[in-house]
Amino acid sequence: MPADVDYLKGLLRSYPDYPKKGIVFLDIFPLLRNPVAFETLITHFVHRLTSHTIASSPSKKIDVVVGLDARGFLIGPIIAMRLGAAFVPVRKRGKLPGETISAEYQKEYGLDVFEMQADAIAKGQNVVIIDDLIATGGSAKAAGELVAKLGGNTLEYLFIIELTFLQAASKLDAPMYSIVKVD
Ligand code: ADE
Repeated sequence: MPADVDYLKGLLRSYPDYPKKGIVFLDIFPLLRNPVAFETLITHFVHRLTSHTIASSPSKKIDVVVGLDARGFLIGPIIAMRLGAAFVPVRKRGKLPGETISAEYQKEYGLDVFEMQADAIAKGQNVVIIDDLIATGGSAKAAGELVAKLGGNTLEYLFIIELTFLQAASKLDAPMYSIVKVD
């Protein structure tokens, strides 16, 4: 395991039976609380995006970083600024003004709805979608649907943590990258 991944993994905290029995909650906030870890985290993503996603398709400059409500908002804008890209939020229903588009996804109990402003992405723009953790992949898939509805081209989905046993990658319309894999 690369030293930076090992370092970041060691700082994650897990909380059994939170927010309910049977769930082991993985907490990323210790990474943000530690300035060296936060810098390491952001640099890891930026290096990945400049050395891999773009390098594998040199014509594909990243135009937009999409961050998911809510913890995707803590890392997405910083990565967008480092790349010289736009940041676009995907929010829970009812939080964004003006014309919006929406996509439903399954939560543990019932459906939830994600929205994006209808003018946030122009047709043909290259997009990466970022969140802190991917579990079943329902919310990431809904975000990908919003990007596709506006004619954006999702290059990659990126997460700090992937719960590998939930096999979310098969649901997504583009490759997925995660820094820490938990099984
Ligand atoms: N979101 C969904 N599953 C989670 C988990 N196990 N820990 C933190 N956030 C989550």
